[in-house]
Amino acid sequence: MAYYVTTPIYYVNAAPHLGHAYTTIAADVLARHMRQRGEEVFFLTGTDEHGEPVAQAADAEGVTPQELADRNAERFRALMPILNVSNDYFIRTSDPEHHARVQEILQRVYDAGYVYEGTYEGWYCPRCADFKGEAEMLPGHRCPIHEIELTREAQENWFFALSRFQEPLERLYAERPEWVLPRARANEARAFIASGLQDVSLTRPALRWGVTVPWDPEQVFYVWFDALLNYVTALGFAQPGSDLSETFWPASVQIIGKDILKFHTVYWPALLFAAGLEVPQRMFVHGFLLGGDGRKMSKSLGNVLDPFAVIDRYGTDALRFYLSREVTFGSDGPVSDETVDTRYHAELVNELGNLASRTLAMVDRYRAGRVPAAALDSALAEDLDPLAPRVCELLDGCELSIALDEIWQRVRRLNRYVEERAPWAQAKDPARAGELNTTLATLVEGLRIVAVVLHPYMPAATRSLLDALGERAPEDLALSAARCASSDGGGRLAERALAPLAQLFPRLR
Ligand code: MSP
Repeated sequence: MAYYVTTPIYYVNAAPHLGHAYTTIAADVLARHMRQRGEEVFFLTGTDEHGEPVAQAADAEGVTPQELADRNAERFRALMPILNVSNDYFIRTSDPEHHARVQEILQRVYDAGYVYEGTYEGWYCPRCADFKGEAEMLPGHRCPIHEIELTREAQENWFFALSRFQEPLERLYAERPEWVLPRARANEARAFIASGLQDVSLTRPALRWGVTVPWDPEQVFYVWFDALLNYVTALGFAQPGSDLSETFWPASVQIIGKDILKFHTVYWPALLFAAGLEVPQRMFVHGFLLGGDGRKMSKSLGNVLDPFAVIDRYGTDALRFYLSREVTFGSDGPVSDETVDTRYHAELVNELGNLASRTLAMVDRYRAGRVPAAALDSALAEDLDPLAPRVCELLDGCELSIALDEIWQRVRRLNRYVEERAPWAQAKDPARAGELNTTLATLVEGLRIVAVVLHPYMPAATRSLLDALGERAPEDLALSAARCASSDGGGRLAERALAPLAQLFPRLR
């Protein structure tokens, strides 16, 4: 099956920060998980380069918008390997291939009669590049997101007849109640639609930075329309010589933050309807990472978590783990340096790291580094076997944190098993050699299964762990391998000689 996952494309007028890392890591967890299921995956991220904020930032610096975009897009591209993100392509909306396809699709929308000329007047936020309705604004005509004062603007331009999609959108939500998740976000979108859709500006006059409107070259497309279309245009040119749309459109899941809900759950499906394209199968809307004090993160409040500092101190896997675990995916929640440190030591060092190092040390000490071919503990096997199917089910619904918790319960269960079985006591009594073999075989098998299922969250640490267990072939990473091989003839690794394992998570305090 084909699986297509996207992140929003990020504005190049700001530097990459934790919020960008958060969404991208989440999408990467899903992409890696689906590859482990044998799906044909396409994972897209990239940069949103047009619009006033970029043109203004470039003017302020005395460079051209393209120069600014080139420089900053590079910083986002460079972020991907730092986060160990496995995107298949990185789209930039200033790419001429993207321009050509945006023009082609929007010309189709025009030809279908969904575009007309008019004047728009309203309250405009230059940072959102969006007009705000009366119901959205804060008192004093301020932006609900940026809290800045909005400007009153009137524009001669082309309109997209969004109002004509009121009924098709209502039908979409009624027929596919789970196309937007979590449900609360779908309800928000439905309420917005029910309040009555107004037509929206499709173009902007006199702005030199953007995609030119083919039927009116004095104008460029409003940046949101050009940006949304990236999800479709990229498929046309990501792989030179072939059009991936046939395989990958409609997208399987699009991950967005709640700040861009309206664009993705109202404008986007309407635009797709107008262009005669299918709507994505799922939109998942995650919450906001907040400062440790529960307030919005801001430099002036000094409550910002710097992802690069976390990576320097704890490593990329630790950041990925922390972000997937600390805040339930789909909800808002606080993040801070303190809780990174606590989770790192309590869970990665003391639980997973310790389980791995003592399991390998005991196999080494008691069985000369070779995994015994012994019956597995049946209670443990019964607890481990349903793990991979359960994780699949949860990740099908983008429940990243809940799936990780299921995995973590097994890590804890295996540590408890060590305490219950006390292998050091079994090792003292030659009559208990069979019991010790079962303990060790079960622990190795448990560790292997946990490593496979955890791989999307912590690709590097689990790779080292699987290497030490001798699981180096691509098929060893398949989720179908994440079950106990047999409960009597031993695990998948029976008789395997284990390799040494460097410390996965060094203690830092
Ligand atoms: N360019 C638009 C998106 C166009 S998509 C067709 C944009 N870019 S952005 O650079 O502002 O990135 C917004 C996204 O970054 C959010 O939707 C969210 O995914 C992520 N986040 C930014 N700040 C965040 C938090 N504080 N917390 C969680 N995610 C946040 O909007």
